Amino acid sequence: MAARSTFIPIASSAWPGNRVMYEFMAWLQASALGHAMRESGVWTYGVVNLTHILGVASLFGAVLVLDLRLLGVWRNIALATIAEPTVPVAATGFLIALTSGVCLLATKATEYVGNPFLYIKFPAIGLGLLNVLALNFLSGWKARKTRELSSHERLQLSVAGGISLVCWLTAITAGRMIGYW
Ligand code: HEM
Repeated sequence: MAARSTFIPIASSAWPGNRVMYEFMAWLQASALGHAMRESGVWTYGVVNLTHILGVASLFGAVLVLDLRLLGVWRNIALATIAEPTVPVAATGFLIALTSGVCLLATKATEYVGNPFLYIKFPAIGLGLLNVLALNFLSGWKARKTRELSSHERLQLSVAGGISLVCWLTAITAGRMIGYW
């Protein structure tokens, strides 16, 4: 396994954001959650990591199918039919990834402060969530159960599907790379 880089106390760096970030991570690491993650047995981290992966797999598996449909694949299947199972599976997967991810982070939070992949992963997740919000405002998405969509609406949905795929693939790639920094 690749060696993790030596921890650099970035709190002393000139940019005030680094200090805020470091202080937040130090607080998280010293929290009851951080203690529980480190002190409740040798299998805890592994099991929580497995949970994280199951959450990520559920999220991305569902998102992949939905996004490909938004991009125009499987046009013979109604968007509403594909959205019905994929949206709740993706939402549940995200909640599992979120809760298990916070536990993983709390274990050794200060070690991640200088890790560039963290600064790619979290904005990618944020953008992915903003894209979900935007999708919910699109007339094509709102009308998916009631009528045929116009070509302009289909185009808007395919843009949202493309952005979504880029965001979640970036989050997965950066998440996987964090450990190799
Ligand atoms: C939203 C809150 C999340 C937090 C706080 C979080 C945090 C973390 C942490 C701390 C790790 C361990 C890094 C390491 O030391 O190896 C990790 C791993 C990972 N995360 Fe997340 N994560 C979150 C959500 C997500 C999401 C939404 C995705 C994908 C869409 C994702 C994908 C991954 C992947 C692929 C790994 C690598 C796991 C492995 O290789 O064992 N994470 N995450």
